[in-house]
Order: sequence, then structure tokens, then C-alpha cells
Amino acid sequence: MTTYNIALLAGDGIGPEVMKEAVKVLNLVEQRNPEVNFELNDVLFGAAAYFATGSAFPEETKAACDKADAILKGTIGLNHEDSKKIPVDEQPERGALLPLRRRYNTYANFRPVYLPKGLAHFSPLKESVIGEGIDIMIIRELVGGLYFGEKENGVDENGKRFVREVLEYDEDQIRQIIRVAFDVSMTRKKVLHNIHKSNVLKSSVLWNEIVEEESKNYPEVEVKNILVDAAATYLCLNPAMFDVMVMENMFGDILSDQGGGILGSLGLMPSACKGPEKSYYEPSHGSAPDIAGKGIANPYSMIGSVALMLEMSFGMEKEAKNLWAAMQSVFAKGYSTSDLSKATEANLVSTEEFGDLVCVELAKMPTA
Ligand code: IPM
Ligand code: MN
Repeated sequence: MTTYNIALLAGDGIGPEVMKEAVKVLNLVEQRNPEVNFELNDVLFGAAAYFATGSAFPEETKAACDKADAILKGTIGLNHEDSKKIPVDEQPERGALLPLRRRYNTYANFRPVYLPKGLAHFSPLKESVIGEGIDIMIIRELVGGLYFGEKENGVDENGKRFVREVLEYDEDQIRQIIRVAFDVSMTRKKVLHNIHKSNVLKSSVLWNEIVEEESKNYPEVEVKNILVDAAATYLCLNPAMFDVMVMENMFGDILSDQGGGILGSLGLMPSACKGPEKSYYEPSHGSAPDIAGKGIANPYSMIGSVALMLEMSFGMEKEAKNLWAAMQSVFAKGYSTSDLSKATEANLVSTEEFGDLVCVELAKMPTA
């Protein structure tokens, strides 16, 4: 029997609702796999934590994450107006999420952009553009670049307000994420799109040099270099041309949301954030305060993040595959939540019902 300790950071907005479904799934996975035992540890994170303790990432939460085998995070953040009730540095993005990424050096962010052919109706793209379906792995560097560079703001000698933010990478930081991307490419179609802006940014010039150096260690992988703005266009025009895409932090933030856009919703975007010792898993979407508490948020991104955790942190590849398949078959049977589906013929269910349906499908699948 192996026991895995999981810190649960439900967070704000729809976070607690979708986390509840993730826990439901974890309980079922535990039942189905007698050799594993999950020890779940619910802790405060984000705005909820700030209002309860005065810190968005309290010491108790840090301690729970430190001892966890993996961290499962919901969503954080408040609406624009409510955010103002929290001092800028304690706002959940700056006060909790970025410190979480930094604490565990989760440099490799995996954001699958996946839509099987049968679910083409979710996407705003024409079926002819989607072709055989969309299956892209966006790999985003997560602890460097503009997000973590030096920042300064003030008033200059002319009395004008100014701001300065530094985009910094060293070669080791670049190399480690590039290697992850090549390794992932080796397990897929062996075509790697390297996303850059070397016609303007020096950081991209260095980035591309490292890609070229590392490509010598992966002769089987074909590297295709593409400017970030062009990549944004091709994601809409021909998403099928991409398999693995690798990019720096800010580019990855933007293109991964565009990935959600071409699927039809960020609700279809789970993610994994991998560090050298510890990883955490989260939906790529925000806390959707506008629909919080209504029971209509789709838990796909959250449950998909559980699937990524099973695979990447606990070596449960088979069960992770089962879980993906279970979610796809719920959609294939025509069920959806109203946040996701504009299709009127969809059989609309609540967050909780969607979680239940996933469990019904999962329960049918053999574990061995
Ligand atoms: C994401 C989010 C975060 C980011 C925000 C909430 C800080 O948009 O995970 O993509 O920009 O990285
Ligand atoms: Mn984002």
C-alpha cells in the first residue's frame, strides 16, 4: 500500500465547487485501486486565505504543501471590485500563486489543448479546420521572464510616473525547459514548435541558441521555429499543424488561453506545473466569480488536472487514461454544463452531476 499526501487548495470563486468534484473522483480512484491510499489535506489559499488569516499563502498552507507528495489547486482571485479590498501585494495572484510557483520551482507547465473530433462542436472553429481533432501540448516556462524579473515604479525627474519590468533568463533556466519539451516530443510526434520573438527580443535570441544546441541531442525531433505572433494566427487557421509547442512564461500565458479559446472554453484546459521535487496541478482558468456558487461551472479542467497528477506524480498512467476516457464519454453522450455549451441540444447538467457522471463512467472501466 502506498500513501500519497495531497494538499488541496480549493481557493476562490468556483474553486471549491470544482474541487469537490475532484475529491469525489479521487475517492473513487482510491476505491478502485486498493494499493493506493490518498491522504487529503484541505488548506486555505488565495483571497479566502487572506480574509481568514491576513495572508493569501499562510504558513499553515506552506507547511501542508511542503509535506505533500503533490498539490492540487483550484482557482484563485476575485472580481475587479472585490480585489481592491486586498492590498496589491496580497492579492491572490501576486500573494499566493506566484509564490507557490517560486517556492517549488515549478518551471515546467504542461497545458494540453485537446479536443477529439467528436467534440468539434465545442469549438468556434469550423469542422474543416479542426479536421481529425486538436491535440497540442503547450509547454510553458513558468518561473522566469517578466513574471519574476525585477520590477520598479516611481516618478522620474520630470514628474512623470514610470514603470520598469525586467525580462531575464539564464541559459540553465532555458535549457531545462527546452529539454522537457524535447523529451515530451520524443513521446509524441517528434515535431517541436519553438515559439519565439527573436526579431525583436534578445531573450529570444538566446532562447533559440539553446534550442539549436539541445536539438543536437535529439536528432529525431524536427524543430520548427515560429514567431509568437505568427503562432497565434496559425493556432486559429490550422491548429492541427502543432504537436508540442515550447515557449517562455508570458508567451505561454497568452497562447495557452488562446488554446482554450480554440477549444471553445478555458473550462477544457487542465494543467500540470512540474518542479524538480514537487509538482502542483491546476485548471488553467480563473475563479469565474460571475458564475461562482451557481453550480454550473464545468469541472473538466479540475478533474483533468487530477488525471495529470495521477500520471505525473503517482505513476498511475492507466488510471489517468481511464479518467480522460471517462470524461470524454460523458461529453460524447451529450452531457455538458451551461458554462461550456452553447449547443442547445446538449443535455445540461450541474457541476455536481457532471462529476457524478464521470464517476459512473470511470467505475465501468477495468483497472488492471
Ligand atoms: C495562468 C494565470 C496566471 C498566470 C495568473 C492568475 C497569475 O493566468 O495560470 O495562466 O498569468 O500565470
Ligand atoms: Mn493565464
